[in-house]
Amino acid sequence: MKVSGIDHIELYVGDARQAAFYYCTAFGFRIYGQGGPETGLKGQRSLLLGQGDVRMVLTSGLVPDHPATEYVRRHGDGVAVIAMEVDDTEQTYATLVERGAGAVASPARYALGDATVTVAEVSGFSDVTHRLVEREGPRAEFLPGAIHMSTVDENVDAGEDDELLRTIDHIAICVPAQALAPTAKYYEDVFGFTEIFEEYIEVGGQGMDSKVVQSDSKQVTLTLIEPDTARRPGQIDDFLQWHAGAGVQHVAFSTGNIVAAVTSLAEHGVRFLGTPGSYYDTLTERVGELDAPIEKLRELGVLVDRDHWGQLLQIFTESMHVRRTLFLEIIERRGALTFGSGNIKALYEAKNRELTGAAR
Ligand code: FE2
Repeated sequence: MKVSGIDHIELYVGDARQAAFYYCTAFGFRIYGQGGPETGLKGQRSLLLGQGDVRMVLTSGLVPDHPATEYVRRHGDGVAVIAMEVDDTEQTYATLVERGAGAVASPARYALGDATVTVAEVSGFSDVTHRLVEREGPRAEFLPGAIHMSTVDENVDAGEDDELLRTIDHIAICVPAQALAPTAKYYEDVFGFTEIFEEYIEVGGQGMDSKVVQSDSKQVTLTLIEPDTARRPGQIDDFLQWHAGAGVQHVAFSTGNIVAAVTSLAEHGVRFLGTPGSYYDTLTERVGELDAPIEKLRELGVLVDRDHWGQLLQIFTESMHVRRTLFLEIIERRGALTFGSGNIKALYEAKNRELTGAAR
């Protein structure tokens, strides 16, 4: 069993066309394809968005009893599927189910020309599932037959150099109190992931525990967070309440140039969380010399930290949802392989200022 990376994520949303307009206009995604009842996707409309190596499917239910309709009714818009690329879907599916994963959808093959894609689905946490994706042949097709790819003309490429976002660096998941250890153990025992980082975060009298689990390929990284119920209720409790259970709190996109990416996204209307100017006064003492202008980082609110291997620059967006649940992160790694304690605390402090300063 080999999990080589995150193949794509699928969001269930109230209106896939409107959400696609937002992600394309504000975040620089392009529509690569779409499917619906006419392509065999019963009761749903799905749009495939892409940028760099990121692939994101936006799906809306067209009928009341479609799972996407039910998900949105319960949670609002959010991540419903985290798909992993595997070398052998049938074998991986059998192994995962044998190790205790819930069987959600047995292996199915999609083929068109030389492209074959085999998918299956197993349980993850709460109602979020993991789709296993095995790709053979040309990569031009995403889900042959079910998703019709846009023609080249409709899908004008901005060119590699202009890509703001490159990959999904990690996905952060909020789980209820007492669920952190069993969830981490599930990924270790069933998926063979390794725990690479652990941190207790204290923000304004609130506490949260986190563990990071990662695939052997180091290309799938999940940050798991639970609230500390011994402390004052805070933003993780809020997330769990408004999302109605465990779910994806944020998706982190990597970029090769965070200053350029955040500047461009902000120009297109994306709102980022701010950080007090004093954070930058002692920055070089904490993280060493930087080859980015500190004044620019201060202006944008980009946070800087380091781990054993190098530096990392990060920023959170405001949540774009009425429930203030899912939000996004932009991250640039300059050698850093894990996370830095200083940034995690500063990011959640910024989130706290957003939540306490704004009405829902
Ligand atoms: Fe993150």
